[in-house]
Amino acid sequence: MSLPTARTVPDLRACVAAWRAAGERVALVPTMGALHAGHASLVTLARSRADRVIASVFVNPKQFAPGEDFDRYPRGEAADAALLAGVGCDLLYAPSPEAMYPQGFATTVSVGGVSSVLEGEARPTHFDGVATVVAKLLLQALPDVAIFGEKDFQQLAVIRALARDLDLTCEIVGAPIARAEDGLALSSRNAYLTPAERQAAPAMQRALVAAAQALARGEPVAQVEAQGRAALQAAGFTAIDYFAVRGPVTLQPTPTAPFRILTAARLGTTRLIDNVGVA
Ligand code: PAF
Repeated sequence: MSLPTARTVPDLRACVAAWRAAGERVALVPTMGALHAGHASLVTLARSRADRVIASVFVNPKQFAPGEDFDRYPRGEAADAALLAGVGCDLLYAPSPEAMYPQGFATTVSVGGVSSVLEGEARPTHFDGVATVVAKLLLQALPDVAIFGEKDFQQLAVIRALARDLDLTCEIVGAPIARAEDGLALSSRNAYLTPAERQAAPAMQRALVAAAQALARGEPVAQVEAQGRAALQAAGFTAIDYFAVRGPVTLQPTPTAPFRILTAARLGTTRLIDNVGVA
């Protein structure tokens, strides 16, 4: 099944204009490709919220720092298009880097506050790159609703702040984390894991669930964070950037529920992130 594909803003806008003229509601699912069942669930959610679904596939160079995995990030447009067509996506938007950032492009969108903690400390330029490309995608497609996975929980908070602060009319919807049977959060970066690392990786979710249970029993936040880090170390994770109990909106430390527990750490050369909520 072949999927209609737009590669330029005028082509994208022509499709969207035709749908709007027919009174249809449009959803956008932004992605960086290497699509898996988690992305399929985002498209399925988008389908339930709109008449038409666009998925964008763009590996955004601006959100990778020098030395990160931009060059080795998995790419495969044919497989991505097949997956999208199979779950009812109407249009693939796959701009080239030159179409997204033409010569002379000189604007950076920077969201303060919620961007500055956790991932913002570990990857200081990351959220400027995300906010810049997401602002562009939302302005290019002008969707009624855009869907982002909760696996990147802080990214979702940053995008909500972006939409609020810039008065974007698009509704931002978070989608639950899709997990493998053993609990590992689905991620395109899981493809980097060796078989032994893949076996060890679900320990990250187990550490988060144990932390959520400890908080629910009333254990102090600092103790729960220390136990989480120890559990990750015992499972072979290194370079633990954070294992943090935070408030779910500001992502600032908080002594009382509701909480979001977020973590980022490496298994071998692969950096994994995950999070769980505590009501
Ligand atoms: O979550 C992602 O895949 C990316 O950060 C996004 C939102 C598509 C922006 O490049």
